[in-house]
Amino acid sequence: MTQNLLRPVALVTGASRGIGRAIAARLAPTHDLVLTARDAARLGDVAASCEAAGARVRTMAVDVRDGAAAGAAFAGLEIDVLVNNAGVAVLTPFLELTPDEWHRQVDVNVHALYHVTRAVLPGMVQRGRGHVCIIGSTAGRNTFVGGSCYAGTKHFVMGFAESLMLEVRDAGVGVSVITPGSVATELFPEGTNTAWMLEPENVADAVLFAVTTPPHMLVHRLEVRPLSPKRPRDSF
Ligand SMILES: NC(=O)c1ccc[n+]([C@@H]2O[C@H](COP(=O)([O-])OP(=O)(O)OC[C@H]3O[C@@H](n4cnc5c(N)ncnc54)[C@H](OP(=O)(O)O)[C@@H]3O)[C@@H](O)[C@H]2O)c1
Repeated sequence: MTQNLLRPVALVTGASRGIGRAIAARLAPTHDLVLTARDAARLGDVAASCEAAGARVRTMAVDVRDGAAAGAAFAGLEIDVLVNNAGVAVLTPFLELTPDEWHRQVDVNVHALYHVTRAVLPGMVQRGRGHVCIIGSTAGRNTFVGGSCYAGTKHFVMGFAESLMLEVRDAGVGVSVITPGSVATELFPEGTNTAWMLEPENVADAVLFAVTTPPHMLVHRLEVRPLSPKRPRDSF
């Protein structure tokens, strides 16, 4: 895919379903897209609907925990907007978490953020423009039983995002973090009541807003929450 000067190119991680899929759909009318996740078949479906909305789309099936694979896939691309969305949640108390559940969350929510951003950001800095948008969570400010790992990783995201913003804004590169409350996606186990939650499209609207502000304006942090009488009392 060669860059079309009139349409910025957005790389969306975790684009095979949920919030990432909605972000891809929201950007498709105005951006060309590089969509990545592991599930190539689902990525293909997302790509087809984004192409129908006007985007030129490239899909790349990559496990973003693999730093070498992420570097090889993304380092050579001219990306205007990077949406670091891929994430894993296992909302289980620390002593009940398996080692694999711990490592999966840290590897995707923390290390993959490093791998993908490290591959894409140098080009943005070199070109003097670009936007890195990260999907954090209200769990990046809150704590809850079952959040020792997930909330820990999302607290990391907040510190990473604000520090990175300060490091690269003079180079013309913006960094935003979107912090949703609960969103109805497959992040939650089957059978979870998601009726009161935000829709993925609500988060996608916030992403579009954050990455399309005027050049001199940066929305660094944007929190989006469900507003519903059906919301359980202790929910986010
Ligand atoms: N749902 C919520 O309530 C909520 C609230 C706040 C923040 N968030 C955040 O929003 C983001 C998206 O979550 P979601 O709710 O849309 O979850 P989801 O429906 O489970 O989607 C997760 C996405 O991440 C991708 N992914 C997971 N592991 C990966 C890996 N190793 N390599 C590449 N891609 C991987 C998945 O693709 P493949 O399986 O195809 O690889 C999928 O596209 C996450 O960062 C999450 O923490 C969610």
